[in-house]
Amino acid sequence: MEQIKRSKVKALLNMNAGEDVLAKGWVRTKRGNKEVAFIALNDGSTTKNIQIVVDKAAFDENTLAKITTGACIAVNGKLVASIGSGQAVEIQANHIEVYGECDPVRFPLQKKNTSFEYLRTVAHMRPRTNTFGAILRIRSHMANAIHRYFYEKGFVYLNTPIITQSDCEGAGQMFQVTTLDMDNLPRNKKGGIDYSKDFFGKQTSLTVSGQLEGELGATALGEIYTFGPTFRAENSNTPRHLAEFWMIEPEMAFYDIKDNMDLAEDFIKSLVKYALENCREDIEFLASKYDEELISRLEGVCDTEFVRLTYTEGIEILEKAVAAGTQFEYPVSWGVDLQSEHERYLVEKHFGKPVILTDYPKEIKAFYMKQNEDGKTVRAMDILFPKIGEIIGGSEREASFALLDERVNELGMSRTNLEWYLDTRRFGSCPHSGFGLGFERLLLFVTGMQNIRDVIPFPRTPKNAEY
Ligand code: 4AD
Ligand code: MG
Repeated sequence: MEQIKRSKVKALLNMNAGEDVLAKGWVRTKRGNKEVAFIALNDGSTTKNIQIVVDKAAFDENTLAKITTGACIAVNGKLVASIGSGQAVEIQANHIEVYGECDPVRFPLQKKNTSFEYLRTVAHMRPRTNTFGAILRIRSHMANAIHRYFYEKGFVYLNTPIITQSDCEGAGQMFQVTTLDMDNLPRNKKGGIDYSKDFFGKQTSLTVSGQLEGELGATALGEIYTFGPTFRAENSNTPRHLAEFWMIEPEMAFYDIKDNMDLAEDFIKSLVKYALENCREDIEFLASKYDEELISRLEGVCDTEFVRLTYTEGIEILEKAVAAGTQFEYPVSWGVDLQSEHERYLVEKHFGKPVILTDYPKEIKAFYMKQNEDGKTVRAMDILFPKIGEIIGGSEREASFALLDERVNELGMSRTNLEWYLDTRRFGSCPHSGFGLGFERLLLFVTGMQNIRDVIPFPRTPKNAEY
């Protein structure tokens, strides 16, 4: 049976009838009558199944009984033209080996319960569904597209540390990394925890962003990007937040805020275009099942120029909307951090296209952003997307040692682990900029999924770290 090379289902569906073939995969369904059985087989290479036609008289009953939904089988047979609709070819089975049986009663993936909520409770099995197969293939393609994009532009892929001492965003949302004995913590003279006894000899955490180390790379190599896991202990149980998510952070020497916006806009459009060209079948599958407007939304982003306006202008639009009767859960006025409902109002209701919002109040943005002459705002840029809200956050960085030093003092930040960062401004400082794209936010947009837990294989959220 193993003499013929195994073909993947995706390839089989495009092969010509007449060949002897070997297929391996998991049974999606089995139906039929007394004489023939029709098995829909899937191996994860495509959302489509290959149909196996089994002449029951030629097989022993025992084997046939073991072929149930979820079972893993290998099928040897002839590829023939299919008379049924839906597929050009099917396999006329000669021999079937059952690799793994599947108890039809206990199998967690049952036809009757396919809600996303339920599938999250059996996330170890959900990659076997068509929907998650499609999402995970798209995820893999998009990771590849990101590396290709930067590779072609000559950016250096820089690996920044996952364990770090610095809190880049200054929001205090770090997960601590320690090997200290929680039941018997070493104390210093003041009664505090003695971190000199910890693994690294100091307090460390999981990174919230690779940016600060990315700036070290950009101010030496010119243009770099990071692409790795980031961690935030923010207790926000929303459809757009994960405690562990992947972020892409390009950082470029000699880019001002406008260059930064141009790159970000081109980057995200290229990624969406790549998805439309290279993940078409999976996107069409998701569109047909969940979201009829998905493809037009994706094409819309590629074809349109993003709106660029300042935070102050954005607030004026939102205040006018409130005056005209629009109701938001959170109030808006100059100085507040925008909520997703505000961002989506600007994008979906007011402009009907992606928006790049710039020049935010310095109080609601991180310490490293370049200060504007008005003394109130910084050269930040957030890209806001339909259905998502913020998908990219970035800025031109403060290049002046004096101004950055002053801001660090103003915020009362600890300098014990910041001097290395300030050295970029002390020694040969240069204008530079960068941004961060949330990989799962991008995938939400590309797949049309509603919940960020459904675009990552093993979601980590408050009170949930299965597997
Ligand atoms: O806006 P953020 O916090 O910016 C930074 O971390 C900067 N250091 C980036 C930079 O300039 N290099 O995060 C960037 C993006 C957000 O726009 C969002 O897409 C995503 O990361 N993000 C999250 N995605 C999922 N779950 C979370 N909890 C996220 N927090 C941020
Ligand atoms: Mg942000």
